[in-house]
Amino acid sequence: MYNKEQYNSFFMIEGKRYHMQQNKILYGGDYNPEQWPEEVWQEDMRLFKLAHIDVVTLNVFSWASLQPDENTYDFSKLDKIMELVKENGLKVCLATSTAVHPAWMARKYPDVLRTEHNGIRRKFGSRHNSCPNSPTYRKYSAALASQLAKRYGKEKNIVAWHVANEYGGECYCENCEKAFREWLKEKYGTIEELNRVWNLSFWGHTMYDWEDVVVPNMQSEEWIWEYTRTNFQGISLDYRRFQSESMLACFKLERDELKKTTPDIPVTTNLMGFYKPLDYQKWAKEMDFASWDNYPVYDAFPAQIAMSHDLMRGLKQGRSFWLMEQTPGVTNWHPYCSLKRPGVMRLWSYQAVAHGSDTVMFFQMRRSIGACEKYHSAVIDHAGHENTRVFREITELGAELEKIGGQTLGATTKSDVAIVFDWDNWWSSEYSAGPSKLISYHGEVQEYYRAFSEANISVDMISMEDDISGYKMVIAPLLYMCKDGYDTRIRKFVQDGGCFLTTYFSGYVEDHDLVVTGGYPARLRDILGIWVEESDAIIEGNCNHFYYDGKQYPATILCDLLHLEGAKALSTYEEDFYAGMPVLTEHDFGKGKAYYVATRSNGEFYKTFLRQLCQKHGIMPVMEAPDGIEATVRENENGSFLFVLNHNNEATDVVIPCSGTDIIRDTTFQKGQKVTLASKDVLIIRKNYWL
Ligand code: GLA
Ligand code: ZN
Repeated sequence: MYNKEQYNSFFMIEGKRYHMQQNKILYGGDYNPEQWPEEVWQEDMRLFKLAHIDVVTLNVFSWASLQPDENTYDFSKLDKIMELVKENGLKVCLATSTAVHPAWMARKYPDVLRTEHNGIRRKFGSRHNSCPNSPTYRKYSAALASQLAKRYGKEKNIVAWHVANEYGGECYCENCEKAFREWLKEKYGTIEELNRVWNLSFWGHTMYDWEDVVVPNMQSEEWIWEYTRTNFQGISLDYRRFQSESMLACFKLERDELKKTTPDIPVTTNLMGFYKPLDYQKWAKEMDFASWDNYPVYDAFPAQIAMSHDLMRGLKQGRSFWLMEQTPGVTNWHPYCSLKRPGVMRLWSYQAVAHGSDTVMFFQMRRSIGACEKYHSAVIDHAGHENTRVFREITELGAELEKIGGQTLGATTKSDVAIVFDWDNWWSSEYSAGPSKLISYHGEVQEYYRAFSEANISVDMISMEDDISGYKMVIAPLLYMCKDGYDTRIRKFVQDGGCFLTTYFSGYVEDHDLVVTGGYPARLRDILGIWVEESDAIIEGNCNHFYYDGKQYPATILCDLLHLEGAKALSTYEEDFYAGMPVLTEHDFGKGKAYYVATRSNGEFYKTFLRQLCQKHGIMPVMEAPDGIEATVRENENGSFLFVLNHNNEATDVVIPCSGTDIIRDTTFQKGQKVTLASKDVLIIRKNYWL
């Protein structure tokens, strides 16, 4: 369970607590004045004031101008920009500019260039393009971070360091190959152990020497892009871990340089929600606070966005995070650049706050005129003035955030339910070579999350390292890799009275992706009281069926054929040769219960089943509300805040569950009062404790 201590916005360094320099929800975003003539800057400042902007992220992509050659730094432009924003009372989230290396570096030191999955060596171009194991990149990125800290570290308006930008991708170059061998030596010690954990006696892959290790890409073990097809899951899985750690090492190098000079400025890097290549749970340990960029697709449903926010909140065990970027209007890299409808930017901004954000920030402040983001929305559009719909909406929200001030900062959320999300499981369950190409780790987790979220039951998204003892219910969908010791923790949790649920394709392998023999779900078998003998993949579009609570539901993707070993069947398959075999089981284990869902069903089933489970285990929704109304609670020393968000396209009636005051409009509400909430509108009700 997350530590439920009341937090104000703060970060910890070596056990010491530092307060964020924040007295309100920061409002602003990526500002790139270096792309514009200086005449424009003053106009930007005027417009920022109009819009109640108080923070800018500067210097995200300026390495080329900050260091025009190997021996020269030139901070003249950044000096001017820093001065400009200071004079105008803006806070700064200062980036280190290391997300794209300068052209001279690529020309002189080709080791900075990445090699693609298909073996092609890249030339200079694009961004997020440096090999994470390039000695050149590591040396110069750390040096630049150090220079920036020394030059600007004393500026009082710097609220955070923003290292690089959206770390991501991967590299398969020779440097990475060499570094991978070192990483493996460190991890496994001997070549014999490597042969064992990767099961290299299969297909005569026995390795005699560390030099036999090559990177797993299209030139060796992997077949196609998307990391789904590999001949050796163990190798590919380790490579994913290694690449994530290699990029993290780059982050740490810069962070350490920054800390040397500015130990009390918090350091972050902007994450991307459910981003498969990087294990953010490991990353977050090295970051002072989590921040992320939210770019939902046009048809994203509210729970989909909410789950990403909750994942980000979970990275620091429930502490608040920053919404570092979102688009005010269109996201130009989406296949359809649909407009955010009136009210949606505001609604999604408050949704971020409702799930734990202490900022509302945009990409970007002024729309570029050239290259691939010229049609991406910005606070200031190509029209160049304030008379746009988007600017008006931004201004209105800015005024509201100013009024709300610091009341919700650092507030946390209490949840009785935890959903386990784990990168090793994400990688390994989808690499698995069978049983179905439809296996989707994120997709499976989302089905469960959605059912809770749409019932307004608060969920913590937790890692496999987080303490589970304080939750009433722990859901671990597709727990394919039940890592060493995790079953012990689940066993204790259930024995002590907890409710645990897992699904098909769980418990198969240990940490190296080696199957645990003796019958699936192996280490979880006694807890669940079942034995899965076989699993039948269901072809897309087809399904088996089962009944639950008088209604028929589909069974898709995979149907486990299982035997009861102490559990009882809550439902059985209707069709095929395994008709009558259990599909849904419940096991009394110690003081608790363990549930197994042997297939993938549909949203209606999860909604019905999980709501019943919650009732049974005394887990209450934040409030009862019609579909499309999302409600969350955040608490801090200022009080308890109930967020009510109307995602519907029409006005919707809600019954307010507590007495209190809406901090956006100062309207008071009585418990049980019926309110019509306009489409896309939001209430943030500070509860009256005394009523
Ligand atoms: C990302 C990046 C930004 C910008 C936006 C556009 O989040 O961090 O630099 O490219 O996407 O949506
Ligand atoms: Zn590389």
